[in-house]
Amino acid sequence: MTETRTGIDFNPFDPAYRADPYPYYQRLREQAPIYRTPLGHWLLSRWEDCTAVLRDARFGHGSASLLRENTFRKPVEGRARPFILLDPPEHTRLRSLVNKAFTPRTVSRLAGRIQELTDEMLDRVIDAGEVDFMDAVAYPLPVTVISELLGVPAADRDAIRDLSHVVARSVDPDFQHTPEELARRDDAFTRFDDYFRGLAAERRVRPADDLLTSLVTVHQDGERLTEPELLTTCILLYVAGHETTMDLLGNGLLALIRHPEERERLRADPSLADSAVEELLRFDPPTQMSRRTALEDAEVGGQAIAAGEQVVIMRGAANRDPAAFADPERLDLGRKENRHLAFDGGIHFCLGAPLARMEGAIAFATLARRAARLELATDELTYRDNLIIRGLAALPVRLSS
Ligand code: HEM
Repeated sequence: MTETRTGIDFNPFDPAYRADPYPYYQRLREQAPIYRTPLGHWLLSRWEDCTAVLRDARFGHGSASLLRENTFRKPVEGRARPFILLDPPEHTRLRSLVNKAFTPRTVSRLAGRIQELTDEMLDRVIDAGEVDFMDAVAYPLPVTVISELLGVPAADRDAIRDLSHVVARSVDPDFQHTPEELARRDDAFTRFDDYFRGLAAERRVRPADDLLTSLVTVHQDGERLTEPELLTTCILLYVAGHETTMDLLGNGLLALIRHPEERERLRADPSLADSAVEELLRFDPPTQMSRRTALEDAEVGGQAIAAGEQVVIMRGAANRDPAAFADPERLDLGRKENRHLAFDGGIHFCLGAPLARMEGAIAFATLARRAARLELATDELTYRDNLIIRGLAALPVRLSS
């Protein structure tokens, strides 16, 4: 069988893969849906296999020693692990504490402010000639929303912008980083911890109407967040809260520019905004992959996976699996039954999904309503250097009313 396979070796450095990973995903799904890389990771590209792993308690993140042996990404020594990297029961405890602070009400009352920010930002870019959409809207909109929600003062945001990018890049496998980058990552975590430690101390003395104050005070069944847990949770919410939403907006706008007929559909019927967001997330998800470790001997799609081996959920590939989606290569903003994996499909299902969905729906509906013409201002698009998070370095466009 190996002789007939072409082009399925996983090369995340290949510029063609970076520019458009979907032809590779298709070959992988068709020729080797459970593919073992030379480094020993199992790449899963079928929706059913990915979903099975995400729902299977035999797969998780594992103990500290298992994580240290991880050939994909080692944790930063000496820090509390964020709950995105924990298994039950620790994951359950922390997630439910954070859920108590970050409620559906917290999110729903942000709608007016998100609309106001979107309008302000679009005022500056519509009929303004060539603009970089990433710089003008896709980055500032979600970073302002999560900063205001958490209580990060406007004056501090530039200073923590670089820290945030370094931390976001650190979700990539270690083999993607130089030793200098790994040192910079560890330093960024330390400085981020220091920053939130100071801010949390202020909130203990002077509580405010923000998520940080809720996290400082939240308790359930006699449990609270310890100081290290509080700090990693703040960083997780801050970074996860905008680095991925930024790419929903960027990748989504690019897909709309490339599919003018779908864009017209949304313009004619703004009630499609919610399903449009789901479809844009399916079509080109910001988080392309996630890793899980077999905590005991297990099996996926007929393949035995030994305890300690690592599997990679290829979300971008699963989201275009014809066994799970009708006509998967087509962008269909009104798609029904859209069980995409862009937000995960198990116990780690994105905690911020309601907020990300709301930001996406408001931004795309407003864009469709206010900008009659959307054009790319270049044919040369560059993606940022991340492997796990897929997003554009810049998106030069012309938007006209
Ligand atoms: C379009 C935007 C977003 C995408 C595509 C996205 C995607 C994801 C994915 C795939 C996971 C699961 C990762 C894994 O299990 O390996 C996740 C988890 C998480 N996300 Fe998001 N996310 C987005 C926005 C947000 C926002 C706005 C927030 C916070 C305000 C957020 C907070 C979190 C948290 C805290 C987790 C960990 C949940 C857990 O482990 O139980 N995300 N997200």
